[in-house]
Amino acid sequence: MATTFKQKVLLLGATGETGKSILQGLLEDKDSFDVQILVRPASAGKPQVKALAERGTTLRIADIQGPIESLVDALTGVDVLISAIDFANTLAQINLAAAAKKAGVKRFVPCSFTTVVPPGGVMSIRDTKEEVNQHIRKLYLPYTIVDVGYWYQLSFPTLPSGRVDYASLFKTKFDIHNGGSTPTMITDLRDIGRFVALIIKDQRTMNKSVFAYGDFLSENEIFDIMETLSGENIERKYISADGMAAQRARAAAALKADPDNFHAHVGKSKVDYEYSKYVRGDNTPEYARYLGYLDARELYPDFRPKRFREFAQELLDGKLEKPYGQWVV
Ligand SMILES: NC(=O)c1ccc[n+]([C@@H]2O[C@H](COP(=O)([O-])OP(=O)(O)OC[C@H]3O[C@@H](n4cnc5c(N)ncnc54)[C@H](OP(=O)(O)O)[C@@H]3O)[C@@H](O)[C@H]2O)c1
Repeated sequence: MATTFKQKVLLLGATGETGKSILQGLLEDKDSFDVQILVRPASAGKPQVKALAERGTTLRIADIQGPIESLVDALTGVDVLISAIDFANTLAQINLAAAAKKAGVKRFVPCSFTTVVPPGGVMSIRDTKEEVNQHIRKLYLPYTIVDVGYWYQLSFPTLPSGRVDYASLFKTKFDIHNGGSTPTMITDLRDIGRFVALIIKDQRTMNKSVFAYGDFLSENEIFDIMETLSGENIERKYISADGMAAQRARAAAALKADPDNFHAHVGKSKVDYEYSKYVRGDNTPEYARYLGYLDARELYPDFRPKRFREFAQELLDGKLEKPYGQWVV
């Protein structure tokens, strides 16, 4: 009887937003993957972690910042290690990568899952992630970096009726940046895992960066879709490139004055993203190819990611979940 080889995949961050999507994408392809979850000791007793075990996954408990020998034990036998750790803990992956190298992990997917941005002062999130990427390359650890554009779930404007507030991270959102005509890659959070499942089965993506996206739209186009589908007129607050530069300077000063302040970090990340997406116009398929990325849409033409219009209809139909629970910015 023929036996099918299953990749042993260990996922870190499965209780988080990106991690949940990746777990779902892997579990939808059970014939290809034996999925295990890496959990820190402090979270082992969480109800969300217990729920994961009930979904047919095996838990491995280890502290990724702990002694490397015990971490090597936790990573032994793993074919693919995927990290979906939150941004604040990005640099904890330095120790994790070193242990992965020692354990003989065949592919590490570090936590990128962000927009296409060049390193070097444009977006501090990118620069921190790049420290991890450079460390991986110095280790000569096989890797794949996956970037996904900006989530649909963070890209839609709120409506005057309050109809989409249930799924919005933002109390209100109707800012339009730099004229609103610069298109940017966006993706349904729920498709990230489906892309990842395809990417990690593919030898062509070994030691490469890959970009994946569902739609390529400007803010004006997103607002137009929401107005057409909802029948509502959305207030549009225009912020010029100069206004954005001033916001960026204020956010940098606030962070410098209080480097441990979580809200100052969130504020700085938001304006960095906006500057990169709408002033520099970085997050495009063309620029990604220039930076050397492979295009997941070209690699997997049979996979049809959800388009923003379909997402928006689900949103208006009340069928979506808000990311990050009750947290509102
Ligand atoms: N493209 C976009 O639009 C977009 C939007 C948001 C985020 N992102 C990116 O997505 C990435 C993931 O962010 P997220 O918002 O999905 O994360 P999240 O929801 O905050 O989840 C973070 C996960 O990391 C785990 N974790 C944190 N520290 C850990 C540690 N020391 N040891 C083990 N596990 C640890 C948490 O586990 P516990 O259960 O133990 O806490 C949780 O599962 C970030 O790097 C961010 O840059 C991209």
